[in-house]
This record gives sequence, structure tokens and C-alpha cells, in this order.
Amino acid sequence: MKTIARRRFDCLVIGAGGGGLRAALQLAQGEANVAVVSKVFPTRSHTVAAQGGINAALGNMQADNWHWHMYDTVKGSDYLGDQDAIEYMCRAAANRVIELEHYGVPFTRLENGRIYQRAFGGQSQNFGGEQAMRTCPAADRTGHAMLHTLYQQNLKARTHFFDEFFVVDLLLDPDGYALGALVVEIETGEPMIIEAKTTLIATGGASRMYRTTTNAMINTGDGMAMALRAGIPLQDMEFVQFHPTGIAGIGILISEGVRGEGGYLINSAGERFMERYAPNAKDLASRDVVSRAIYEEVHAGHGCGPKKDHVLLKVDHLGEDVIKKRLPGIRELAVRFAHADPIEKPIPVYPTAHYSMGGIPTNRFGQVVVPVHTGPEEAIPGLYAVGECACVSVHGANRLGGNSLLDIIVFGRAAGNHMLEFLKENRYHRPLAQDAVDRGAARLTRWDRQGDGESVDRLCDELRLTMEEHCGVFRNQEKLDEGIKKVRELEKHLQHATLRDHSKIFNTARIEALELENMMDVALATIHSAAARHESRGAHSRLDYPHRDDRNWLRHTLYSREGHKLDYKPVRLKPLTVDTFPPKARVY
Ligand code: FUM
Repeated sequence: MKTIARRRFDCLVIGAGGGGLRAALQLAQGEANVAVVSKVFPTRSHTVAAQGGINAALGNMQADNWHWHMYDTVKGSDYLGDQDAIEYMCRAAANRVIELEHYGVPFTRLENGRIYQRAFGGQSQNFGGEQAMRTCPAADRTGHAMLHTLYQQNLKARTHFFDEFFVVDLLLDPDGYALGALVVEIETGEPMIIEAKTTLIATGGASRMYRTTTNAMINTGDGMAMALRAGIPLQDMEFVQFHPTGIAGIGILISEGVRGEGGYLINSAGERFMERYAPNAKDLASRDVVSRAIYEEVHAGHGCGPKKDHVLLKVDHLGEDVIKKRLPGIRELAVRFAHADPIEKPIPVYPTAHYSMGGIPTNRFGQVVVPVHTGPEEAIPGLYAVGECACVSVHGANRLGGNSLLDIIVFGRAAGNHMLEFLKENRYHRPLAQDAVDRGAARLTRWDRQGDGESVDRLCDELRLTMEEHCGVFRNQEKLDEGIKKVRELEKHLQHATLRDHSKIFNTARIEALELENMMDVALATIHSAAARHESRGAHSRLDYPHRDDRNWLRHTLYSREGHKLDYKPVRLKPLTVDTFPPKARVY
């Protein structure tokens, strides 16, 4: 192989979504020399698709308090979230949102000029009382507004962008230090080494491994898979959030903000069925509860449409003005993809794979930590992760809507700050061993040749269908075990897969194969972890183990790629300054 070009930076940020860009901004403003690598143009990163808003107890609509937000988040997590990280996030939320406002995010306003806040699922006042209004939106395009603002701030701060570069693998030295990554320019197929004193993974989620999903084509779990290949276990991967309201049949997100504004779900009898499942919170119960309710209604024969395979989200009673002002993007999506103008008729919806609560284990400074049973967790020197690819863990077994945008902003900034500290102690580049580069390069060159088996496309479709059928809203042992066998079989077939004949055009066929390898690894992590957890908690609903079992399962899962090994570690129940919220029955 010819010599690979090299570039050197203080910091490498992999991924240009909100988490990556918030961290990069902190670093660039701290005078670090930062490279952001993104496989798409930065403002096409998946944060752009976040609709409903970002949570912060600003108290602009009614009294509110970060401690109430913390309570709701712990309860929403079904008590699996680490309470120190949750306290840190909820306390920081108001300052981070005001900071975003000052950066230029065009939040929706009240008449008095303050930021408007809408109700979202699982939010309460006074530790479980009346519904709270805590989510700060920019109409229904909050992620879009945030991502563009952060990108512009990064340009101003002189962050260096490598757009449309794919990361093949992390580069680590034998002492475990993260030294950057091997990347490939998608258009040309040319590899490049980016050496960095510190590296942040911010590559987002992996829900593209499901057939029906809110996720973009890019959400293939690349960072999670990189971590697995580097010997880092993934935490709590069994917890996949199914958003209750994807457009039926295609999965495109219809924001929870619609229900926050007063929309509600009905079945084929026109019944507002959430009143039976969650008598207090109704349509604004947490997502796992609403998704299960929709699934049960449809499977009890109360579904709508010719195939009785979805329910309806009724919005018309909100009136044309509210819909046009607060939900313009939703209206556009519903018209275009469901042929339903919500001003006139309800939107057909069904649960859709949306978010991975699990990911690369980190502490609240964003450091990737390798848990060691016999002692304290150890940080991998120079390696950080934030956002959906990471598990800090603030979402536990079920994330509350509006907390993901908060997570990326709070922990993106925290990771940036910690990386600046790391740079003070690690001023020089460490030598990069050739074999680290060779391992990455081998991954790339493997796909230079055409296989003679099934096509990458077909294997990808089969993987997505398998995950939907075997590791969906409701699970049981038999289905999960069968699913594991099927995914492992698909993994074998991938060794000989045929590439799509795009290679002569934009090198995309090779990238699709690499992405599928990543998705396979993450799918195996997910389904193995799900098969092992013998209880129902948050988004992990086992028909054969229908109850939460705190005695045996109030612990985090750790899945390693090597031998598909599972291990566990305790939940951090102790917050930083306040009392623990002890596990109790979770009712809405
Ligand atoms: O429903 C939504 O607008 C999605 C928000 C989220 O996942 O946080």
C-alpha cells in the first residue's frame, strides 16, 4: 500500500452532530487545534432531525425546578440511570439553554419575550404531581436550529472540518492511549491518518439496524462498533427506545411535541385509549408506556386502516393557527408522507425504533471508562464519548423526550473541558505504531475486492427485518435466541458479500459494507444483552419476565465483542448533593 497521508491536531472529534459540535466549540474556544470528521456535511448530521425541544427547568410557564426534572428523569429511566450524572445534567440544563440562546438558537417565544416551553412525556411538577412544561422548542425544528447555530459558532472559532470522511477505526497504542483515527475520504477512497492527542467519539445512534426507524441512513452505530473492536464493552444495549409516533409503515418521526400541544391518540373505535393505560399522564406518559399501549391496541384488533395496523394521532382540534405556528414541520411531514393534513384529519402512527439508551460507557466528564470489577473504573487515556453513542448513563432503561438534546449539550461541553485539561498534561503527540495503522487499513482493503455471495443491500435488509421481528417492543427468550442465530448467520454471509456496483462512482459501496459490519456488531450487542436480561424494565419488555426485578437486575449490562461475553456493574444510585430517589413502582 502506498504511504498514507497524515495530519496532526490536538483534538479529533468524530461526528458533527450536536454533541460533537458542542465539544468542538469548547475546545476551539479553549485555543485547541480541533479537527471534526463527519461522514456527511455537518448540518446533515442526525441532530438536525430532532423536533420537539430541549429540556430545562427554566420555569417560564409555571414554577419549575431542576430537582423535579431530576426526579422525572430517574423515574423515566426506570431507576437504571446513574443519579450522579442525572443530577449533573439537570442542574446544568438552564445555563446551557440560555447559552444556546446567546449563541443564536431561535427559540420559540412567549409574548413577554421569554422562551416558550411545552409539555413533554414523563414531566411533572413537585416530584410526580401535575404535568410540567419543561421543553424549550424552536417550533418543531429544534435540532435543526441548534445544529446550524453550533456549526456557525464552530466556523467562527476556526474548528477544522473534514466533511464526507468516514472513520475506519480508532488508533490506540499498546498502553491504551487514544491517538486518533484512520479515516477515508468518501469521494476519492483515499485513506488518511489523523493523529490527535485526544479523541472524542460522537457518532450518534444505531437505530438504522431496525427496519422501521426515525433514524437517518447515517445512523449505523459506527462509533459503538469502533469501541467494540478496540475491546471496550458496550453498556445497556438492550434498551432501545421505540418512539410511539412514527408515521405508520415508514417510521418517520412525528414529535411528542404534538401530544405536548394537546394532540391525542385514538383507536379504531375513536377511543382515547391512553386513559386506560396511564390514567394521570394519558398521552404524555413516558415513551415506553405509550409504545406498549399502541402495540397492545393494535394486537387486540383495535387498530385503524384497512390492515388495522396503526392508531391515529388526532390534532385537528388544536386549530389551524397552533398547527401552523408550533408544528409546521410536522404538518409538512404528515402531508408528504402520510397524505394527511393534520389540520383536517388525524395522522396514522405506530411505534418506530428511535434511540439507543446504551452505548460506550463514560463518566460525567465524557471519559470512556472501562469498568473493572475489582477496583474503580479506569479511564482510557485520551478517549472520550458523548451523545447517543455513549452511555453516561442519564437515560437508564428509558429516555425522556427532550433529554437527548440536553445530554449532548451538557456532556459535549463537559467533555470539551476535560479534554482541555488532558491536553495540559499531555502536550506532545505520542508515537503511533505502524501495526495500529495496519489493522485499520486491513479493514478497508478487505472491501477492495468483490465477493461472490449475497449482496450487502440484501444482508442489510435481512438484518433490519430480523431486529424488528426478534428484538422489538415486546421480547421473549425464544424469539431473542432465534434472532441471535439469524444475526450471526448474516454476519458469516457478510464475509463473502457482493458490493453494490457504485465503487467506480463515489466509493460508496465500500462505505456501505463497512457500515453494515458496524451495524452487525451493534445488533449482536443489542440482542445478546436483551436475551440475557430476565426482567422487564423501561424499554426492555419481556413477555416471559413481565416484572421489574430490582433484587437481581438493578445493574448495568456490559457486552464485549470477544466471545459475546456479558458482565454487569452496579447502578450509581447516589447523586452528587441531594438524596437518592430510591426505586419504587413506576406509574403514570
Ligand atoms: O418527539 C420528539 O420530538 C423527539 C424528541 C426526542 O427524542 O427527544
